[in-house]
Amino acid sequence: MEWIRLDKIIADAGLASRSEASRLIKNGFVTVGGRPATSGAEKVDPTETEIIVRGKTLVYQRHHYFMMNKPSGYVSATEDRNEKTVSELLDGASSRLGLFPAGRLDKDTEGLLLLTDDGDYAHRIITPAKKIYKTYYVETDGALTDGDSAAFLSGIVLRDGLRCLPGRLDIIASGIKSTAYVKIREGKYHQVKRMLAALGKPVTYLRRVAIGGLKLDGQLKAGQYRELTAEEVGAVFSGDCDY
Ligand code: URA
Repeated sequence: MEWIRLDKIIADAGLASRSEASRLIKNGFVTVGGRPATSGAEKVDPTETEIIVRGKTLVYQRHHYFMMNKPSGYVSATEDRNEKTVSELLDGASSRLGLFPAGRLDKDTEGLLLLTDDGDYAHRIITPAKKIYKTYYVETDGALTDGDSAAFLSGIVLRDGLRCLPGRLDIIASGIKSTAYVKIREGKYHQVKRMLAALGKPVTYLRRVAIGGLKLDGQLKAGQYRELTAEEVGAVFSGDCDY
C-alpha cells in the first residue's frame, strides 16, 4: 500500500505540474476508482486504484530512468546561473518528472548520461564501492603505450599526488594522436583528463560510451534522450560492457 497525494501522482506521471493537476481535478477531469476526484490533497494508492486523467488511464511508475547522449556545451546539472544545463534539453512530460543527472560529465564531455528521479539508484551508480565501471572513448595528443596501460592497472597518481583506484586503458590506435577506451569506477573531478595528463598525454576529446553493462544507444544524436527499458535499468549493475 502506498498512499500518495493525487496531485503528486499526476505530476510524477509527467501529465501536469502539481498546480495544473489540482486545476484538472477541480475542473472534473480526473476520476479515482470510478468517482470524480475532489482535491489534489486526497491520498490515493496508485498501485491499487485506477486513476483516469482526461479520459486516459494513468500508468503509475514510482521512478523514471532515462539515457541522454549529452552534447558538449551543457553542464550536468538541473540549474545553473551561467551555463546551459542538460535539464534544458528535456521537453514535454519528461521535463516535469524531476529528473537529475546520476553522475556528472564535464561541460565539454559528450555521451552517456543517466537521468533519474531515483536517488538510491543514482547513489549506487556513483559510489566507487559498488564497482560500477564507466567506459570512455578518448582521443589524446601523444602516443599511448603499453606502459600507460600498465600504469592504469596499478593506479595512476595524479599530478597533485592523489592516487586513483586501478582502471583500464585499452589502446585502439597509437601515434602522434592516439585513441583508446578508458574504464574507471570513480568520479573524481576531471578524472580521465587528469589521469592522462599525469602520463603526459592530454585528452583532446572525451565521450562516455557505457556505464556498467549499459551502452549508449547509437541511435541517439547529441542532445537526444529516451527512457530506459526495465532491462536496461538493471544492465547498469550487471557487469561490464564489451568495449
Ligand atoms: N573524466 C573527465 O575528465 N571528464 C568527464 O567528464 C568524465 C570523466
